[in-house]
Amino acid sequence: MTDVTGDSGTDIGRVLVIVPTYNEKDNLEIIARRLRASVPSADLLIADDNSPDGTGDIADTLAAADPQVHVLHRPGKGGLGAAYIAGFRWALDHGYDVAVEMDADGSHSPEQLPRLLDALRDADLVLGSRYVSGGEVKNWPLSRKVLSVGGNTYVRTVLGLHLRDATGGYRAFRRSALEKIDFATVDSQGYCFQVDLAWRAMRKGLRVVEVPITFIERERGQSKMSRSIVAEALWRVTVWGAAERFGRKRATG
Ligand code: GDD
Ligand code: MN
Repeated sequence: MTDVTGDSGTDIGRVLVIVPTYNEKDNLEIIARRLRASVPSADLLIADDNSPDGTGDIADTLAAADPQVHVLHRPGKGGLGAAYIAGFRWALDHGYDVAVEMDADGSHSPEQLPRLLDALRDADLVLGSRYVSGGEVKNWPLSRKVLSVGGNTYVRTVLGLHLRDATGGYRAFRRSALEKIDFATVDSQGYCFQVDLAWRAMRKGLRVVEVPITFIERERGQSKMSRSIVAEALWRVTVWGAAERFGRKRATG
C-alpha cells in the first residue's frame, strides 16, 4: 500500500474508500474493479449488513484475492449511517489519513475520485456535489429530483447551511475532520446522516469544499430509499433548526 500523491505532488496519505452494501450482488464486483483501477493506492472497505442476497460472500471473495480489499460484516440492516460510522471507526483504528464515502451501485464514479482527493489538499471535507456548476444527475425520475432539490433547499433554509448539496453521499474526509466531528455520537440512521455530518463539520468551522460530480442512477438492483428515511431526515433537520434558533435567541437575549 502506497500513499496517494496527486499532480501537485502533495501527499495526502493513506486513503480508505468505504462502500456500504445491502443487496448489491450485481454491483459490488464492478465497483470494486473500477475503484482499484481508478486509484490503485487506495484501499477498499466493504461494510455489508448481512445482505440476504449474498453480497457479503462476494465481498469475502474479493478480499481473499486482493490484500487492499477488506470487509466489515455487520449483523443486519442497521442503516447507512450506522454502516459508515463503523467504517470510519475502522479507518481511524487502522491508521488511515483519509476516509471516503462511496455508494456501491455505480452512482458515484470511481473515475471522479481523484477530483475529490485533489480538492482535499486544501480542505478538511470534500463533498461531491450534484448542484454546483459542472455537477449533474443522470437518469433520475422527476419525483426523486424534486425530493433531492427540495431536501437541499429545506436544509439550507432551516439550518442556514451554505452548501448546494448537503445530502449527497460521495465525500472525502481527512482523519482530523472525522476526529473533530465526533461521529460516534451521531445517531442519524438513514440518509439524513449525510446532512448531520455536513452540519457538524460546518459548525466546527472545518473547511468544507464542494466539487462537481456526475451522479448516475443505478442500472442494477434497487435503491433503499424509503418513506421512513425521508421522515427521519425531515424531523431531525427540523429539530436541529429549532434548537439552533432557540439557542441563538437565548444566547443573545
Ligand atoms: N450496509 C448498509 N446498510 N448499506 C446500505 C444500507 C444499510 O442499511 N442502506 C443503503 N446502503 C447502501 C447501498 O447498498 C448503496 O451502496 C448505498 O448505501 C446507497 O444506497 P442507495 O439505496 O443506492 O441510495 P440512493 O441512490 O437512493 O441515494 C443516494 O443518494 C442520496 C442523496 O440523494 C445515496 O448516495 C445517499 O447517500 C444519498 O443521501
Ligand atoms: Mn443508489
